[in-house]
Amino acid sequence: MRAEDKVILITGGNAGIGKATAAALAMQGSTLVLASRNAAKGEVVSRAIRSISGNDRVQFMPLDLASFESITRFAENFKSRFQRLDVLLNNAGLVASGKRTETKDGLETTIGVNHFGTFLLTGLLLDRLKAAGSSRIVTVSSRVHARGKLILDDLQLKEQFSAMKAYAQSKLANILFTYELARRLNGEGVTVNCLHPGMVRSSFYDRPSGLKAKLAFGMIKPFLIPVEKGAETSIFLAASPEVEGITGKYFVKCMETPSSPLSYDQELAQSLWEISEQMTGFTYPVR
Ligand SMILES: NC(=O)c1ccc[n+]([C@@H]2O[C@H](COP(=O)([O-])OP(=O)(O)OC[C@H]3O[C@@H](n4cnc5c(N)ncnc54)[C@H](OP(=O)(O)O)[C@@H]3O)[C@@H](O)[C@H]2O)c1
Repeated sequence: MRAEDKVILITGGNAGIGKATAAALAMQGSTLVLASRNAAKGEVVSRAIRSISGNDRVQFMPLDLASFESITRFAENFKSRFQRLDVLLNNAGLVASGKRTETKDGLETTIGVNHFGTFLLTGLLLDRLKAAGSSRIVTVSSRVHARGKLILDDLQLKEQFSAMKAYAQSKLANILFTYELARRLNGEGVTVNCLHPGMVRSSFYDRPSGLKAKLAFGMIKPFLIPVEKGAETSIFLAASPEVEGITGKYFVKCMETPSSPLSYDQELAQSLWEISEQMTGFTYPVR
């Protein structure tokens, strides 16, 4: 299929890695939807991408992954406009700025946005992905997943919260979800992969508060790569013919790479899946 005929949705396409990914994919001529909370920023960025790329099929649609109601409204809105979805790029994500907070649905915010919101959005859009015939789901995880533990009876980290613990478990959840969904969708024409983008100079590192976190992030800042470089693996997985048909894999620097041993635990992935269906109230139309 020609890039011009494809519909691509990028969550968090208005900043950082997502914005650089959107700009590059817009140059290929696809219809592009940027989805995130900040509407003013989203409109400005989509206008700028339209102008630079000459592609007038770039648009913004509001989406708050910290609200199941917003995700459901977004999915209805998206489906009323588009009958197919060729690439779903689950890029949006955050690290907590300090204290534990909760989403509108009462979930710890990091796992609420990075995993549960992504899980629900993907499920609600699955029929449009299947309708495309051959489509791709790409989720931006992180190599920090290897530090994640995923204690199933304390996913909300009510007992011992730390921003890094919450972030690491959410990024491990991204990979477990990717592998489990790939298994469940095998043979249905939808591939599912995930990636680590590198340590990227985006606004991501502006969030952490507290002296320790600031010092830690201050030390790595000189080594961060530009957002355009950080977007390369997302662009590769979204658009390259080289990965046609490849599913259930983790990529770093555009290369298939092993993820942590825990991320291959199928029993853990299945339990997380069941909890995610309960938490979101959404049952996937796959086994
Ligand atoms: N930067 C790195 O070194 C690094 C390393 C490994 C992995 N990653 C991952 O890469 C992805 C992109 O991060 P980035 O570095 O580009 O960070 P960023 O510059 O902070 O961008 C994050 C994006 O996510 C969106 N977002 C945050 N909360 C949201 C919500 N509740 N609903 C909808 N959208 C939301 C933001 O848009 P609004 O604020 O407008 O909603 C923004 O567009 C994340 O998944 C992150 O975990 C980053």
